[in-house]
Amino acid sequence: GLKIATIGGGSSYTPEFLEGLIKRYDELPVRELWLVDIEAGLEKLQIIGDLAKRMIDKANVPMKIYTTTDRRKALEGADFVTTQIRVGQMKARAKDERIPLSYGFIGQETNGAGGLFKGLRTIPVILEIADEMNELCPNAWLINFTNPVGMVMEALIRYSKHRKFIGLCNVPIGVERGIAKILDIDYNRVRIDFAGLNHMVYGFDVFIDGIRKTKEVFNRFIEDSNLVNMKNIELLEFDKEFLKALKLIPCPYHKYYYKTKDMLEIELEHFKNGTTRAEEVIKTESELFNLYKDPSLDVKPVELEKRGGAYYSDVACNLISSIYNDKGDLQVVNTVNKDTIRDFPTDYAIEITCKITKDGPIPHKFIDEFPLTIKGLINQIKTFEILGAQAAVDGDYEKALLAMILNPLVANDILGHKLLDEMLEVNKEYLPRF
Ligand code: G6P
Ligand code: MN
Repeated sequence: GLKIATIGGGSSYTPEFLEGLIKRYDELPVRELWLVDIEAGLEKLQIIGDLAKRMIDKANVPMKIYTTTDRRKALEGADFVTTQIRVGQMKARAKDERIPLSYGFIGQETNGAGGLFKGLRTIPVILEIADEMNELCPNAWLINFTNPVGMVMEALIRYSKHRKFIGLCNVPIGVERGIAKILDIDYNRVRIDFAGLNHMVYGFDVFIDGIRKTKEVFNRFIEDSNLVNMKNIELLEFDKEFLKALKLIPCPYHKYYYKTKDMLEIELEHFKNGTTRAEEVIKTESELFNLYKDPSLDVKPVELEKRGGAYYSDVACNLISSIYNDKGDLQVVNTVNKDTIRDFPTDYAIEITCKITKDGPIPHKFIDEFPLTIKGLINQIKTFEILGAQAAVDGDYEKALLAMILNPLVANDILGHKLLDEMLEVNKEYLPRF
């Protein structure tokens, strides 16, 4: 049997993951699920642990649930480690969103200034976990969901002793589900070849029942691009002529770059009304935990679908199962480029469709270059991710400053500088290296 350790186990998303494990128990016999959290998250961890036990009883699978604040004990001998932490909790996220907005910049937890600070807080902790894994479970895969996934990947690539890591996101399957909605067919019939960066991934080719239908589907997508969205992102259609010219399916996060002004306007409205995403999610979370506490609840409640990470369990569980069973099927993950995209450095992280084997992901080589039309933006964001990762580890002010100002959602030296200083100040307790 397998042992899985989930760091950040007190997250409201955990029932989603557990549901996925239960569904797949026959092919993926997880005997022990260790839910780890910090002292400050103990109350939530207890609620999640109790719900998890009820879910296990109801499903009648021989899985044991452990809740603990002892991370080392949880990591010891684990086969897979998933990380879903939020350093500084929702309060820090609210600041990541609100402070940039107060300067007139997009406030988003994975893009722009907010993404930089989430990275600065998160990366030292993820690297600590990776080091402990190297000692306590050297053969285990680290499966990281913690944002900003792209920047965290760059940190792991550069600084982690532990070399088995994969970054995950639900955006690719979210896009596949959206396309299925447009076509009014079951999402299992849709598969898309994706490539790009995390939260900056593009769909290149679309397959329905395994048959290439890119042109037909793309034309339908152009008419209805609004149906491809995530719960945490505003509904705004892409310009049809723009899509026609681009000839790729952008992901919902691309709206921050291709519709910066429109997104900013909407966000500023939320800023005024106290309804930024973090403020909304804080409400949703407290509703969720009230439901979770109910001793008669023994399944994942549908209300969890209000979160942007809905269906992430399918991504995580499919990945773990394909590694464990050496399936060799195609899934989208964040991994090292190696020689996949020839005009991109070999040691940079990309998000790309991969064949998933017992030795991990092998990029599926359906392209060997990023098209000219997306190369510039990708390289700019990659520069941001690398500078952010380096700054997080070195506590290097100049790198943080460059990351901030070079980010296309800031792109202003004087305001970017001021914003950096203010955000460094309010994040002080989570940035021991600065
Ligand atoms: C999407 C992204 C995740 C992100 C989530 C935010 O699913 O892929 O990386 O964490 O949205 O959702 P939330 O409900 O927290 O705003
Ligand atoms: Mn994501």
